[in-house]
Amino acid sequence: MSEPIEKRRDGAILHLVLARPEKKNAITGAMYQALTEALGEANRDDAIGAVLISGKGGVFCAGNDIGDFLAAQAGQGASPGALFIQALPLLEKPLVAAVEGPAIGIGTTLCFHCDLVYAAPSARFQMPFVDLALVPEAASSLLVPQRFGMAKASEALLLAEPFDATEAHRLGLVNAVIETEALYEHALAKAKALAAKPRRALLAARKLLRGDPSAVQARMAEELVAFGEAVRSPEARAIFQAFLQKKARREQC
Ligand code: COA
Repeated sequence: MSEPIEKRRDGAILHLVLARPEKKNAITGAMYQALTEALGEANRDDAIGAVLISGKGGVFCAGNDIGDFLAAQAGQGASPGALFIQALPLLEKPLVAAVEGPAIGIGTTLCFHCDLVYAAPSARFQMPFVDLALVPEAASSLLVPQRFGMAKASEALLLAEPFDATEAHRLGLVNAVIETEALYEHALAKAKALAAKPRRALLAARKLLRGDPSAVQARMAEELVAFGEAVRSPEARAIFQAFLQKKARREQC
């Protein structure tokens, strides 16, 4: 069985592939842990110039594993998901995403931490936190209004309306919509172009573009408290159970 996070090196590029296509690349605790370790490796290894992230099987990511949400208990300390989210503003190398198909929950909010995002026409972004009786995470309550404006952010985060690749491009989340066959090579070429720049200047420029990370970190901390309470609420647990039971019913058919 292949690893659910495939890690490849292509010259100066660390390529991370969400590789759990049978579950639409929904991210488990073990996968978050592997991703967090990979981001740490990118920071430590001078030979890595940029990180590229993509999903296997025509899907980017169906968000956090819903079974893991259901298993969340109080007093467990920071979850692997929380540790991954907190590692995002600490990543010192550029992060490039190639998005195909569904990008749900963290699949979308992760893109707000990327330097470049390329999407296939099939990409479909959605942040259904409120529909799941949850609250936004990964500083999306700060970054989505900043990027989209409050009107669109309310549609995306409160109404949980999905948006496609063209709309994501119009809103400034996606750099370009690229035909599926060319998506990976295009994103890889852009990651390589970044990695080939004078490294010190690139990293300093990136830091300046992003500004002080403390506001993002403070919002993440605030969201994580609210999220931790919400994920254990009876309302949310009933929704997670319904999702998983739907799966069980499909198996009986
Ligand atoms: N957690 C756990 N399992 C998930 C999952 C998730 N987030 N998303 C998908 N899966 C599983 C399904 O249960 C199904 O498992 P099964 O084959 O054992 O029944 C399998 O992945 C395929 O999903 P399915 O729903 O049949 O595929 P689809 O093409 O009809 O729909 C999605 C794809 C991504 C639109 C749909 O799976 C979905 O909405 N997933 C949940 C997204 C979500 O709410 N994530 C949390 C965000 S915070």
